[in-house]
Amino acid sequence: MVGKIIVQGGQKLHGKVSVSGAKNAALPVLAASLLTPHFVKIENIPDLYDIRIMQQVLQNLGAKITKEEDSFTIAAGQVTPKDIAEDLMRKMRASNLMMGPLLARFGYVKAPYPGGCAIGSRPMDLHLKGFKALGAHITEKHGHIIAETKCLKGAEIHLDFPSVGATENLLMAATLAEGYTVIRNAAKEPEIHDLAEFLAKMGAQIEGAGTDVIKIKGVQELGPVESHSIIPDRVEAGTFMIAGAMTGGDIIVQGARSSHLEALIAKMKEAGVRISEDECGIRVSCNDCINPVDIITLPYPGFPTDLQPQMMAMLTVANGTSIISESIFENRFKHVGELQRMGANIKVEGRVAIIKGVPALSGSSVEATDLRAGAALILVGLVAEGETVIESTCHIYRGYEKIETKLKNLGANIQAIRHQ
Ligand code: EPZ
Repeated sequence: MVGKIIVQGGQKLHGKVSVSGAKNAALPVLAASLLTPHFVKIENIPDLYDIRIMQQVLQNLGAKITKEEDSFTIAAGQVTPKDIAEDLMRKMRASNLMMGPLLARFGYVKAPYPGGCAIGSRPMDLHLKGFKALGAHITEKHGHIIAETKCLKGAEIHLDFPSVGATENLLMAATLAEGYTVIRNAAKEPEIHDLAEFLAKMGAQIEGAGTDVIKIKGVQELGPVESHSIIPDRVEAGTFMIAGAMTGGDIIVQGARSSHLEALIAKMKEAGVRISEDECGIRVSCNDCINPVDIITLPYPGFPTDLQPQMMAMLTVANGTSIISESIFENRFKHVGELQRMGANIKVEGRVAIIKGVPALSGSSVEATDLRAGAALILVGLVAEGETVIESTCHIYRGYEKIETKLKNLGANIQAIRHQ
């Protein structure tokens, strides 16, 4: 487990960087493997801390997993609906994605409430409301949720908010429910579409995934999957694009899909960054200053909350004042205090941050409070004068595979110091 990351600012990034498989697509697809007793093979899985936790949760439930490089072969034939381990659920909220599959396949699941985290309370009310609509009986006591049913029945579900996790859990549960289910106001993120592609390969009958109305016709049983490759990580790609722009460099992000990054690309172009695309990937260059822009984070295809901290990092050195409104999470400005330690001029009022660009930042010792906040600190370290030392980098490795190696290959002066 890496202890800290040290960055010397001032290097312009150049060259090519390849994007890994998407963490937020791999996690629900791995959970979906519980829906069938047959083998499934999943490729392009990133080597991340969160993926290893998901692997532990699956193995604790009795799934057999063999790994070959970036692909997992999973057999969930021996899985029994044991309780989802409390310590693992606390380590990673996405363990709650086991609930839909276990409830659908076994009619029973017991899971601890996933802990809140740095960015918000992270409730599960939309998940549970949907499970109830599908005929599950829910009891909540002593910090645990128990969902049980004789047989899930298709239903009309309207999500109060297009929750990514609730859409994924309910989509997975509905694949084995009797009859038809319609999920309205569904999340439209590309990761939902990737999950639906995987489920369809198992024999699920789904239409509309990636739109706000998803229709599912339940089937008796789901079958094996010969091969499914996880989509590229749009948040990792966006993070590197921002790194290339704010260092005044010229980089190519290989493997990224610009169709998944339209909101970011539009905002970066508005900020004066040059972005183009060819068969090699997305090229990002910027050799003059960054213009200020205003951002509101929204459900996909709006500007993604997962790139808000990184965009804020870029705007701390823009030539003017930018406003960022964080509409998805109630507490996703934890990185502001750390950025201010490096000289950023940022004022927070509730869910709005006002960022006044400064001519230069200075390296400092800072702490990663969550995954994307940690990435933002690395980005600012790339342009700050002097040395930046980032502690608590365990957060960063939850979502970024070999980030220091990838940045070093682009010319960054960065190293990871492992705890002794
Ligand atoms: C997913 O989290 C992602 N995680 C998050 O990425 C991402 O930030 C988030 O979607 C929004 O895009 C994974 O996919 C593993 P939500 P999720 O349910 O599903 C409220 C990262 O950095 N809500 O869409 O937990 C909730 O409080 C992570 O990779 C309810 O009120 O997000 C939040 O304010 C961070 N009740 C909003 O909806 C519910 O039952 C969005 O949450 C569920 C959610």
